[in-house]
Amino acid sequence: MKYNDIKIILISIFILIIIFFVGIFSVNKIRNINSDNQIAQVSNLQEDDPKIIPIDKNIQPEKILNKEKIVEKKVKNKVVPTACPIPEKEDEEEYEDMSLLNIGQEVGLPNPRYIPEDLEELDEGSSTKKGVCLVEIAKNSFLSMIDDAEEDGYSIKASSAFRTYETQKILFNNAVNSGKADALISLAKPGYSEHQLGTTVDVTSSSIDYASASGDFYKTPESDWLKENAYLYGFIQSYPLGKESITGYKSEPWHYRYLGIEKAKEIKDSGLTITEFLK
Ligand code: DAL
Ligand code: ZN
Repeated sequence: MKYNDIKIILISIFILIIIFFVGIFSVNKIRNINSDNQIAQVSNLQEDDPKIIPIDKNIQPEKILNKEKIVEKKVKNKVVPTACPIPEKEDEEEYEDMSLLNIGQEVGLPNPRYIPEDLEELDEGSSTKKGVCLVEIAKNSFLSMIDDAEEDGYSIKASSAFRTYETQKILFNNAVNSGKADALISLAKPGYSEHQLGTTVDVTSSSIDYASASGDFYKTPESDWLKENAYLYGFIQSYPLGKESITGYKSEPWHYRYLGIEKAKEIKDSGLTITEFLK
């Protein structure tokens, strides 16, 4: 073989390698564009038709939320990125603190699109995924609570906390469209969820491998610890077992609402549900 032939073969191999890598890069790019379009499509469908469920059930509502809502927030004169939604300026002015609103099956938020103004994201150590947000005071109290639980040997994390109207709508529609008979007493209608207050958290623990909203949570020692201690940090279980006809919802041993330490103690001492106490 002549020197020139070898040169041509080597150049051809080099060109083929370049074509191969350019091909891989283009396929990945197209895949990413499609997945972004799909997420946008899901959000739009939810806006337009409350009966349509996400076309891809693998796309989690929180994921959609995070994708849309990575915004910049002004904190003490510094602009910092946040994964938590922030309210529009006019909403902030129009609505006061909603933390003691007696929200329930019959009572919705005065502004169904309400977003509290001081949502903060929980970190990896205190939540099971990204984008789990609580208002500042509830977050700080939650962190103290799980730190103290840790000292007693229990590992508790948040699996869900603040939800926008849109996220609640997706969850609610999915539950209704799943055909489950208890859908309406398991998920709040959009604009009617305690989660939208930014003070409510679904908890999970190491005993159930940090599963979300698990029917097994009530059997865990972490659940017992919370039943005994959560009020000391301002948290009360909103939907206790046996109180379904009062609260309007099926028992949710994992769902805790922050009402402040003083109010929580009064509620605990009264033996009432939050629904009765706030009436
Ligand atoms: N699961 C509770 C009721 C909610 O959706 O807010
Ligand atoms: Zn909940």
